[in-house]
Amino acid sequence: MDSEQWMILSEKYVAHTYARYPILLVKGKGMRVWDLEGKEYLDFVSGLAVCNLGHCHPKVVKAIQDQAAKLIHISNFYYIQPQIQLASLLCQHSFADKVFFCNSGAEANEAALKLARKYAKEKMNNDRYEMITMERSFHGRTLATLTATAQKKFQKGYSPLMPGFKYVPFNDLEAVRVAADSKTCAIMVEPLQGEGGVNCPSEGYLKGLREICNERGMLLIFDEVQVGMGRTGKLFAYEHDGVEPDLLTLAKSLAGGVPIGALLVKKEIAESFGPGDHGSTFGGNPLATAAGVAVLTAILEEGVLENCREVGSYFLSKLEGIKRRFLLVQDVRGKGLILGMELKVEGAPIVKEMMQKGFLINCTMDHVLRFLPPLIVTKEEVDQMVKALEEVFKGIS
Ligand SMILES: Cc1ncc(COP(=O)(O)O)c(C=O)c1O
Repeated sequence: MDSEQWMILSEKYVAHTYARYPILLVKGKGMRVWDLEGKEYLDFVSGLAVCNLGHCHPKVVKAIQDQAAKLIHISNFYYIQPQIQLASLLCQHSFADKVFFCNSGAEANEAALKLARKYAKEKMNNDRYEMITMERSFHGRTLATLTATAQKKFQKGYSPLMPGFKYVPFNDLEAVRVAADSKTCAIMVEPLQGEGGVNCPSEGYLKGLREICNERGMLLIFDEVQVGMGRTGKLFAYEHDGVEPDLLTLAKSLAGGVPIGALLVKKEIAESFGPGDHGSTFGGNPLATAAGVAVLTAILEEGVLENCREVGSYFLSKLEGIKRRFLLVQDVRGKGLILGMELKVEGAPIVKEMMQKGFLINCTMDHVLRFLPPLIVTKEEVDQMVKALEEVFKGIS
């Protein structure tokens, strides 16, 4: 069967929850992926910030193969070796003392919201259950995380949403001060918004949130599902500002593409989850956590963060150069290797043209081209992509 026949089958049998581009990718290695007919693409999407080490990193592949041959799954009724290793590694390299494992970003955020509520009931008072989240945020698709996601387009059709959420504009500390009251138990925020258009925190914003939380006895939850695991050039995005959260969520790149989610948390708060309070059949299973150990070790040992910072700032300067030359570019922003280019025109046709030229890029919020290459991308690969993008822009302006 060729790609087209597979796509017809997909339309027939797979639920239509995604608007898909008409390519069928079957193989990947490092920065490159190939479709069924053998056409090669340079991947500046990384499965949406999942394959931070590139496709099929040899150590991740080996860890998965070895673990699959030993023990793929076993219940959380029993102790699990790679789960313990991954939790220890995450705690050694972060603010956290404990890790709860699950299977996706939404689940990690769901766990954070549940734990924050439970902690508040136990340690604050029964009435404190409300959360403040930010406009243009994205936290997931479960009912609670969809409610946390302050974007109407995702919430449409699912009312009534969960009670207990208030929304304020991102980067507006005064709005948080006004919104927070005696019912508020936590603030949930992405330290850099991804889906919402690659929006960076303004100077002092995260520190300001920390101060408000400290003053009012509220918890600070950082959603690093997209920007954690090195994406911004530090292992965790919060490190740039020297501001520690009380809870932090991870998923996407944590196991290099094997589904996983994690909630990292300080000990005192973690104690509000006792046996039976929360759980997941697959959460932290041997296969996913063995992959996670391999990913985290490679990020720490293979100069991945240094490359992300160096190539990231080179990439940003190249995008700024394009902005100076093309009026259709409104803004360029980002950190490390999560970069956005806001356009005055629709981004989707540009994504399609780039695909024809052999480059995968993404567009979010209709007008923001988002670049999320593997953190191993080279300056030469950035040059190739930027050259192709300029050619596409020349065709438009
Ligand atoms: C910041 C953030 N949080 C949560 C999620 C949801 O993650 P998942 O799709 O794994 O449920 C995403 C997904 O894009 C995200 O970017």
